[in-house]
Amino acid sequence: MLTTAWTRRHVISLADFFPEDYDTVLQTAASFSEVLTRRNKKVPTLQGQVVTNLFFEPSTRTRNSFELAAKRLSADTLNFAPGSSSLAKGETILDTAKAYLAMGTDIMVIRHQESGVPQAIANEMDRLGTNVRVLNAGDGQHEHPSQALLDLYTICSLLDPPNPRVELLRGQKIAIVGDILHSRVARSNIWSLTAAGAEVHLAGPPTLLPREFADYAQADVNASRSAMPELERQIFVHWQLEPALENADFVMTLRLQKERMAQHLLPSLREYHQRFGITRDRLKLCKPHVKVLHPGPVNRGVELNSDLMDDPVLSLIPQQVSNGVAVRMALLYLIGGGR
Ligand code: NCD
Repeated sequence: MLTTAWTRRHVISLADFFPEDYDTVLQTAASFSEVLTRRNKKVPTLQGQVVTNLFFEPSTRTRNSFELAAKRLSADTLNFAPGSSSLAKGETILDTAKAYLAMGTDIMVIRHQESGVPQAIANEMDRLGTNVRVLNAGDGQHEHPSQALLDLYTICSLLDPPNPRVELLRGQKIAIVGDILHSRVARSNIWSLTAAGAEVHLAGPPTLLPREFADYAQADVNASRSAMPELERQIFVHWQLEPALENADFVMTLRLQKERMAQHLLPSLREYHQRFGITRDRLKLCKPHVKVLHPGPVNRGVELNSDLMDDPVLSLIPQQVSNGVAVRMALLYLIGGGR
């Protein structure tokens, strides 16, 4: 396993990640991918540590892959689900977190429907002088760092399987299509892909893609020193699909959040599919080797044609899910100070 200068306590956002941080995650994930091909897929790295999944919002892939990752690292795991917990009796989120602290939790993996909850819990853990580490597993519309890291790993390990690294992304054109406004996945991906030197083209209807996204990430707002000292982040906004797809190397589709339909941000799912749905025909605008990604869950036939999703040549969706385990093992290992 590689030795690293990793110093981050928590992973809440990718805004202040440097190219070398991404490379550390990619290389560590590549080592764990190799471990996952062995007959015995368990390593003793986090033996004796407790990893608690605090998921206040539903999740299939993220929660289960964090749990499997923790188990592969030999950690003990606890799972919190709001429906069957004391939250239903009026307990506050911080008190819930403190109960898990008292049970000896070392790492908290947190998902919440409100932006900022993982940061608030991390602040409280630091204020109390604990050694608890916090991983953001998706907060409101803010960020979903582990998803963007597994997307990055999926792309880089396709480009050079034995040696995934960010420099492979320089000059690659990546289209991100769909409900950008509400997407924490898009926000984290914008940070990682632009830091890697990719050209990011966002496409969606104006109601789901504010023009200001062109300036998103220009300021490196949260970074104490700029994560991108000399390289300008390249982000383009399109209210039509075609210019984003032209000569694209990768197309990332996002779930159309049907719950937003109530706010009249979209005329109808049919019209959305007609204008922004990814079809085989539309992919002809892209480079011949184009690949399609989607974080899941997918609305089949809305953001993506059903047959594309199952196409083993075009779709990277199954690889995203399986790579999620290795990437989450890497994150738990790095922040857990694994050996
Ligand atoms: C995403 C999420 O929950 O943010 N899914 C995921 O984590 N795999 C995207 C979504 O819900 O649309």
